[in-house]
This record gives sequence, C-alpha cells and structure tokens, in this order.
Amino acid sequence: MLILGIETSCDETSVAFLEVKNNNFKVLSQVVSSQVKLHAKFGGVVPVLAARKHSENIDRVFRLALKQSGIKKKPDLIAVTKGPGLAPALLVGVNFAKFLAWSIDRPLIGVNHLEGHIFSNWLKPFGKSSDVNPSADGQMSKKIRFPAVVLIVSGGHTELVLMKGFGRYQLLGQTLDDAVGECFDKVARLLGLGYPGGPIIDKLAKDGDSRAFKFPSPLINSKDFNFSFSGLKTSLLYFLQNNQIDFSKSKLSKNQEQLRKDICASFEEAAIKVLVKKTLRAKDEFCAESILIGGGVAANSFLQKKFSDQAEVIFPRREYITDNAAMIACAGYFSVREYVPADRQRPALGRNCQLKKPDKDSWKDVFAEPNLPLASR
Ligand code: KG4
Ligand code: ZN
Repeated sequence: MLILGIETSCDETSVAFLEVKNNNFKVLSQVVSSQVKLHAKFGGVVPVLAARKHSENIDRVFRLALKQSGIKKKPDLIAVTKGPGLAPALLVGVNFAKFLAWSIDRPLIGVNHLEGHIFSNWLKPFGKSSDVNPSADGQMSKKIRFPAVVLIVSGGHTELVLMKGFGRYQLLGQTLDDAVGECFDKVARLLGLGYPGGPIIDKLAKDGDSRAFKFPSPLINSKDFNFSFSGLKTSLLYFLQNNQIDFSKSKLSKNQEQLRKDICASFEEAAIKVLVKKTLRAKDEFCAESILIGGGVAANSFLQKKFSDQAEVIFPRREYITDNAAMIACAGYFSVREYVPADRQRPALGRNCQLKKPDKDSWKDVFAEPNLPLASR
C-alpha cells in the first residue's frame, strides 16, 4: 500500500510518501518546506501569510517528494491534515489534496494533526523499514504497548492522553491557557531571542545553571492532569522588569550573556518539571505500559534527559518531531485500518488485518476543521 501524506496546518509545507508492505512501514520520501524566516520578523506565525506561502510552495514540495520517492504509480490512499490548525493554512493542503484525489481517482482521508504527532513514534529513518507486525503478545511493537500515556507538546497543544489502542483515546488533561511551545516562543521574545524560541532556548540553556533562579511550575501539585503556562511566562516578565534586565540591545556583555543562559535553564527547569511529573503520575495511576511523547517540544534536550533519567520513554526520531507529512501518512494508515470492525475488537491486530478501502469519492467528505479535538475513532 502506498500512502501520500500532506501537511499544511501551521508553517511547514510537507509532503511524504509512505509504503506499507509485508507489515512494514517505509518512508520513501519526505520534503518539508519551513516558513520560519517569513514569520520570524513578526515573532509568530501570521495565518494569512502562512496560507499564501503554502499555496506558492505546495506544488513544488509535492513534485520534489514524488521525484525523491522514485515511485512510478499512483498512491493507494491520500492522507491530509484536516485539523487542528490555522484555518487558512489547513485549507490550502485540504483543497490541494481534494483536487489531487479527484483528478487521480484515489481515496482521501482527513487526519487529525495530533494523531499524526502520536504516530510519529512509529517511524524509522528514511528508506529503513519499521515493523508494523504485532509482537508475540499481539502488540504493535515490543516497546510500544497499550495502554500508553502520550504527552503531546507542541506550539498549539499540551495534552496528556491515555491511548488504549489504535484510535482509542482518553484525554486526561490539557493546558488551561498557553501551550508549552507557545510559552517557549513567548519567553524567547522577552529574552530578545529569535523565533521560534524553543530551539534557541534549548541551545542556550545547555550552558546555563538551572538552579540560578526559581520560577513557578503552575499546577505542579494539583490532583488533575491539567497544565498552565501563562503564569510562568508572566513571572519571568516581572522578574526581568523588577531587576531591570533588558536583553534588547544588540551587543550584550559576557555577564549578560551568561545571565540569559541561566534564565533559559531555570525557565526550562520550571516548565519541564511539571510535564514530567504529571506524565509519570498518569502512567502509574492508569497502569500504562509505555510512555510516548510527540510534538515540537519533544525535541527539547532537557525534556528528553529529564524523562529518560526517570523512565523508559519513547520519542519520535528527530526528522519526525516537528510538523511533517510522514506522520500524517502513518496516521492515515491506522485510520483506514481502524475502520474494520474486527480490528476494533482487537485493536492491536496487525498481521492479516483487512483494510477498509475508503470510497474514491471520499474527498467530498473531507473538510478543514481548525478546532478538531483528538477523539476516539
Ligand atoms: O509540533 P510543532 O512543529 O508545531 C505545532 O504543531 O505547533 O511544534 C512547534 C513548537 C514551537 O513552539 C517550537 O518553539 C517548539 O515546538 N520547539 C521546541 C524545540 N524545537 C521546537 N521547544 C523546545 N525545545 C526545542 N528543541
Ligand atoms: Zn504539530
């Protein structure tokens, strides 16, 4: 089975080809065109500009992915991100995918972007196969076992989910205000750093002292699994104002540079502590067999270290952490598989499972859904 994945929910235009053969996944090609430079001067993604750039790029990105895949036949299925995301940006990918599905007479399935981030954990490096066979106990792989606790940490979402099986989710908690990635980006702005702030803070924090300053970790002791990050950002703002610290000058002294690194490290400590604590508590409380992380903030080295020091945690490979189309193709595969009633009763079934072939007119039912929640299928 050959699946074409398309992703345009935010500021990356991405197309990928995924082959599923003999119960193996193989990413044949993936092209990601980032708009970071375009949005950097605004300090965040401007939806209309993002949509315009997607429109300019999508055809080129598609052709490149097609060429790199080396395939000469039509895909069996097209999977496109239908939400959540920025409405104008989503529309570009969805309309491109609908037209393509109609013109080459192939089925189209709309994929939840958050589900894509979850399934990014199933993908191996380009060209290498990852086994989708169930292991002896009927599970998908030896490492990923259900129920699994999944932490989704991106620029738009911070959600803790109990994944009971393929397509079966229970939302345990989520942020009550800012997403953690958004908090990284806003704090980076306060510190006079560029956009997106997450990777820059990550880099600077490596040379900083995480115990230099104490910032709050909101809701760290609450009994629920919710998060809150806007208070942390505000406390950092007050800290800078009260201490008359200003990093907006173009040339900083050596001491100022070190001070900024210490603030980055202390901020990460406060933000990540609460993510790790609640995720590990959820694992115990729900007797989960594995922990998966997904979304852009999963790239953070401090977060990876903090988790790995305390538990066996599965992270996506680097090329599938931030927004990409391979994860959308992968989630598309599991969506069509999940439609099979027998498969529902044995959600871990992999070998010999039948795939539902969506109607070739299925493109008529796919629409952009900017506020789509992660729900059980
Ligand atoms: O998943 P993603 O690519 O897009 C959304 O679905 O939102 O996540 C983007 C977010 C941004 O907020 C970015 O700053 C953050 O992920 N991010 C990081 C790192 N790399 C990306 N945050 C912390 N450390 C990183 N290394
Ligand atoms: Zn994302």
